[in-house]
Amino acid sequence: MLTWNDKTHALGIAEMDATHREFTALTNLLAECDDTDFAALFEKLLEHCRLHFTNEGRLMRISRFPALNEHESEHHRIYGDLVQMHRAVQRGRLMLPRAFVKQGLESWFSQHLSSMDAALAAHLKRVGQARVEMTGGLPVLG
Ligand SMILES: [Fe+2]
Ligand SMILES: [Fe+2]
Repeated sequence: MLTWNDKTHALGIAEMDATHREFTALTNLLAECDDTDFAALFEKLLEHCRLHFTNEGRLMRISRFPALNEHESEHHRIYGDLVQMHRAVQRGRLMLPRAFVKQGLESWFSQHLSSMDAALAAHLKRVGQARVEMTGGLPVLG
């Protein structure tokens, strides 16, 4: 079970924080739901992750984030695992996907949030701040 706490988990980029809250909520629902709801929720999680990773990819590109490749390959790796688990779910095999949600996915997220996503958020804040200083306008990002 992931427990969201703004103090420790919020990264200060509103768009990313909203996405991460949604990820946490979905993962927790999956960890606790019964078998009849699991497939539909897993579908939602897969779609969430597709958008989550596409959006972070967009933020990385427009801000020229230096660790883009490293960060995206992490996204691709976990998304590949999710696709594989999704196939099992579609065949009605829930044991492995359930274990994956409770163990693999939860620990992956905590680790990823505090390392790669935190680095991206810090970079976005720096870039946003530099733009404010350069243009005297509002930050485009964040
Ligand atoms: Fe993220
Ligand atoms: Fe990420």
